[in-house]
Amino acid sequence: MRRISRRGLLAAGSVALASGAPQAGGESHRRPILICAANGYAYLEPAYEALKNGEDTLDAALRVVQGPENDPKDDSVGLGGLPNEEGVVELDACCMHGPTRGAGSVGGVQNIKNVSLVAKAVMNHTGHVMLVGEGAQRFALAMGFPKENLLTEHSRKIWMLWREMHSNQDWWGPGVGMPGWTPPEQAPAERRSGIERRLGRWNDVAADLGIEPEMRMDAIRKVLVPPTGTIHCSAANEKGEVSGVTTTSGLAWKIPGRVGDSPIIGAGCYTDPEVGSAGATGSGEENIKVAGAHTIIENMRHGMSPEEAGMDALKRIVRFHGNNMDEIRYIGMTYYVLRKDGAYAGVSMWGGTAERPKRFAVHDGTRRLEVCKALYQGDGIEWPPIPRLKNP
Ligand code: GLY
Repeated sequence: MRRISRRGLLAAGSVALASGAPQAGGESHRRPILICAANGYAYLEPAYEALKNGEDTLDAALRVVQGPENDPKDDSVGLGGLPNEEGVVELDACCMHGPTRGAGSVGGVQNIKNVSLVAKAVMNHTGHVMLVGEGAQRFALAMGFPKENLLTEHSRKIWMLWREMHSNQDWWGPGVGMPGWTPPEQAPAERRSGIERRLGRWNDVAADLGIEPEMRMDAIRKVLVPPTGTIHCSAANEKGEVSGVTTTSGLAWKIPGRVGDSPIIGAGCYTDPEVGSAGATGSGEENIKVAGAHTIIENMRHGMSPEEAGMDALKRIVRFHGNNMDEIRYIGMTYYVLRKDGAYAGVSMWGGTAERPKRFAVHDGTRRLEVCKALYQGDGIEWPPIPRLKNP
C-alpha cells in the first residue's frame, strides 16, 4: 500500500478541487458524487441533480435516505420498519455536515418516520448532538414532525410470525390442542426431524397470519435471521465539501431501547471535511466496537485508499473475534466510503453469491449499482443452517 502524508493528501485534493484533474497515480474521480446502500438506488437521480445544481451536500444525502424512510415497503428503515420484540418500531439516525463540522443524532425514536431530518434538526436547533427515546420524540413533535403509526400490516404480520415461531415455551401461538399446537417436549425431536418439516409448519403459520404466499419465505427468513437493514448515504460536491447520513429501524426483534450503530457518530456515520465521509450498514453491535466509520476516516487521513480503509475496518472486526470463522460467519457488515476528492469504495464482510452479490449504489453523473469488494466470498452461514429458501 502506498502511503502519502496528510499534507500530501490534502494538497492532492486541492489540486483536483481547483482543476478536476486526475489524481496522483493516474486515478480520476468525478464530483459531485453520492454513494449509498443499494436500497437508495431508486432515489439517487433527483438527489444528484440537486447536488449538481448547488444543493448542500447534507440536504442532497438526506433526499436519498428519505426515500426508504417514506417507503412502507422498505422494512429496514422509517415507515414500515420491522419492530422491536414488543411490536413497536424504534428508529435511529445520525448525520454529519462537513462544511460546518456539525453533527446530530437520535436514537430509539417512536412514531416519527423521518428521523434523518430529526437528526439534522438536533444539529441545527439544539446545543446537543444526541437525543434519545421519548425526549427525542417530544423534540421532533415540537419541531413540527407529524406523529404516525410506523408499524405497517406487512411488518406486524412478520413480527407475529416471529412471536409464534421463536419459542414454543410462551403463550404466543395456538393454545393446547388447537390446530398447529406443538407440545413443548416434542421440540427436540422435531428439531431432529428435519428443516423441511419445520419450514412446512412455519409456512402454515405464515398463511394463518395472512402473509401473502409470495412473501412467506422472505418472512420466515427474517424471523430466522433478523435483519439489520439501514441506509447510509455520503455526498461530495464539486467544491469537495462532504456530508453523510445514516438512518434505520435497527435490528429486527431487538430488546426495547436497544440502540445500534446507526445513530452513533463515529460508528454508523462519520464525516471529516478534510478527508471524506463514511457510513455503515450491518451488525450494529460489531460496528460500534470498532468505531467503524471513524476508523475508516482516520485510515484515509493516514493515506489509505477508500477500499483499503474500509477493508482495514472489516479486518479489525475479524481480529476482535480472534479470526474465528465460526463467529465471523454470523457477522454482516458493509461500509460505504467516500473521499473528498470523489474516490469511493463499498466494502463488505461477505460478498454474497454469484446470483446475489452484495452491492452498493453510486451516482457521479451515471447512476449505477456496483459490487462491493468483499473480505470473504459467499454469504457466511445463516443461523440456523437452512437450505436456500424457495417460494412455494
Ligand atoms: N446497523 C443497524 C443496526 O444494527 O441497528
